[in-house]
Amino acid sequence: MKITYYGHDAFLVENDGTRIIIDPFLSGQDDTTGKIPDPEDIEVSYILLTHAHSDHFGDTLAIARKNDATVIAPFEVAMICQAEGCKVHAMHIGGGFNFDFGRVKLTIAHHGSGYQTANGMEYGGNPCGLLLTMGGKTVYHAGDTGLFLDMKLIGEMTSIDAALLPIGDNFTMGVEDAVMAVSLLNPVLAIPMHYNTFPVIETDPNEFVRQVESRGKKGKVMAIGESLEI
Ligand code: NI
Ligand code: MN
Repeated sequence: MKITYYGHDAFLVENDGTRIIIDPFLSGQDDTTGKIPDPEDIEVSYILLTHAHSDHFGDTLAIARKNDATVIAPFEVAMICQAEGCKVHAMHIGGGFNFDFGRVKLTIAHHGSGYQTANGMEYGGNPCGLLLTMGGKTVYHAGDTGLFLDMKLIGEMTSIDAALLPIGDNFTMGVEDAVMAVSLLNPVLAIPMHYNTFPVIETDPNEFVRQVESRGKKGKVMAIGESLEI
């Protein structure tokens, strides 16, 4: 499985010809690297969403329409996409489904999920994290969440190859809590996300990796545009 980081919580995942993008907030980022692709250039057959907040929902509708891609999302978010004419597959917390490309299972996340419209905030249900298994490898994308002890259960029941964890503080776990999350989840590799996109989440990702490695685990800061085979 190949994963490519596009900043914030956006990851492109590829395996055996299937291309999936998670939380495609692309055009809304202040791209200082020139490595964040134009949503018009994204070619995927599936979009995975953790929740409806604009820094995750991002360019979902444009990407879904251009590619005729299916949006896999928590029920309420899927219904928002369906009302916009997208193909959807609705799921919810604790549920998994075997797709043609592999398996997706939604987990809890402690956060919110309102969908911002011109007329105010629309109900977006509960936010989620997700486990994506393809080609024998599993990625855990935690979405936006605070630390929770059930991460221990997730780690015991699932062999996680890469854990994508928010570290930016303020809206989600900060470094200290994210390091504890790595201990609970016990992934092969921990990758930080949801930092430095906005002033309130300015955080040093190298400090996260340093603390993860001081506990005997493996961590890696992915540069924007960088790909990794896991
Ligand atoms: Ni959020
Ligand atoms: Mn967020």
